[in-house]
Amino acid sequence: MNNRVNIEELSEPLTFPTDAYVSKEYAEAEADKLWAKVWQHAGRVEEIPNVGDYITYEICHDSIIITRTGPDTIKAYHNVCPHRGRRLVSTPKGSNGVSGNTQVFTCSYHGWAFNGDGENTYILDKKDWQDKLTHARTCLTEVKVDTWGGWLWINMDPDCVPLREYLEPAASMLDPFKFEQMRYRFRQYVVFDCNWKVALEAFMEPYHVAATHPQLTKYGDFYAWSKAQGLHGNDGYDTPDHSTDDSAATTTVHRTGKGHDARKMMGEMQKEFWETVGASTTQVLVDAALRLVDELPEGTPANEVHEHWLNSCKADYAAMGIEWPEISDDEMAKAGLAWHVFPNMGILQGPTFALCYRTRPFGTDPDKCIYEAIAIERYPEGEQPNTEWVFADPTEENWRMVIAQDFSNMEQVQLGLKSRGFRGNLPNPHQERKVTNLHRNLAKYMGVGEPKPLN
Ligand code: FES
Ligand SMILES: [Fe+2]
Repeated sequence: MNNRVNIEELSEPLTFPTDAYVSKEYAEAEADKLWAKVWQHAGRVEEIPNVGDYITYEICHDSIIITRTGPDTIKAYHNVCPHRGRRLVSTPKGSNGVSGNTQVFTCSYHGWAFNGDGENTYILDKKDWQDKLTHARTCLTEVKVDTWGGWLWINMDPDCVPLREYLEPAASMLDPFKFEQMRYRFRQYVVFDCNWKVALEAFMEPYHVAATHPQLTKYGDFYAWSKAQGLHGNDGYDTPDHSTDDSAATTTVHRTGKGHDARKMMGEMQKEFWETVGASTTQVLVDAALRLVDELPEGTPANEVHEHWLNSCKADYAAMGIEWPEISDDEMAKAGLAWHVFPNMGILQGPTFALCYRTRPFGTDPDKCIYEAIAIERYPEGEQPNTEWVFADPTEENWRMVIAQDFSNMEQVQLGLKSRGFRGNLPNPHQERKVTNLHRNLAKYMGVGEPKPLN
């Protein structure tokens, strides 16, 4: 072990090979060593509001049923009938799962039935088994399930650590945003010809902004810090002198942009994000930013513009009966711009919204993944929209300009990673530590070598 490496901080230039992206054996091993062991985001609590509501979650060769069995109880089971192995709830391969409501899950093949507690309640001609069909042989196989942030999480490992422990320190650093009070605004997905990590990593660092989204650089410098946070990671914008001072770090909602007239720049930036990302801000934030030119005199310093804008937003939300959570400047700065929650979730957070990504392998094909974008937002009570999963072809029309720009890299990265001329990844030791940390933690789960120093 080279003890020059400050491995915890990942500040030393490191490299790792391409097996994790392209190897069939690696992808198959991930099903057992990674996906069967980790907590993973399987949906949102709002998808199963009533007793009997269920959704399925598909990962590699596994499918999990998550069902509400009482006002405060949610259970999860492997989606397989113990008789001869039919999926209990039929699910198409590569789907985002299916949903429904039932208090009795009946297998379509021979009619065995199960209640919400996973107990078998009906077997045709049970006597033929001569009393050998014990409860243990006929019940559904339970899966751990818990909630945090309004999301449902499952873990197939009966010996796993509790969810809260797994999510720390991300959970505590993101708790102030109260995601559990938000509701889906949209959720859409697509299948890409790239590894799930290639798709996820396309959204893990702002280092790509200058080349991939050049139109955004007029709003400022996207130089970012990037940190390992145990299993997880986060990033945020650096101070103008690139000193990586957390206390001065800024987030999306705290950026005023560069330019002579901070009022105009703030309005233009918010409007452009709304129009070209379709998330990462809200209509209320955009409208308040566009009013700045009318509400403030020309020449108002950027920090005053920013403060006025935030106060307007808070007042507008209060008038709509929507809570703006109390988040201190320190909490906001430390939370940063965006999180990676190991292994496969991205969260770009704000006080009244979040844009989330989830990527999953398609079966165990290393060259294919399901990519999902999820926008959640605060709504007045009773005005939350009803949403469904929407399959959306990867066009600019369906995904807006910025995400479509990110898409343009994915398949090309997957192809490039297979080049016999590629010498291994060279992630930026300051701005792409989230990527390196993902591969360090992945390597630990997979029992393979961790990223190595460049010498
Ligand atoms: S496989 Fe389910 S009842 Fe036979
Ligand atoms: Fe991007």
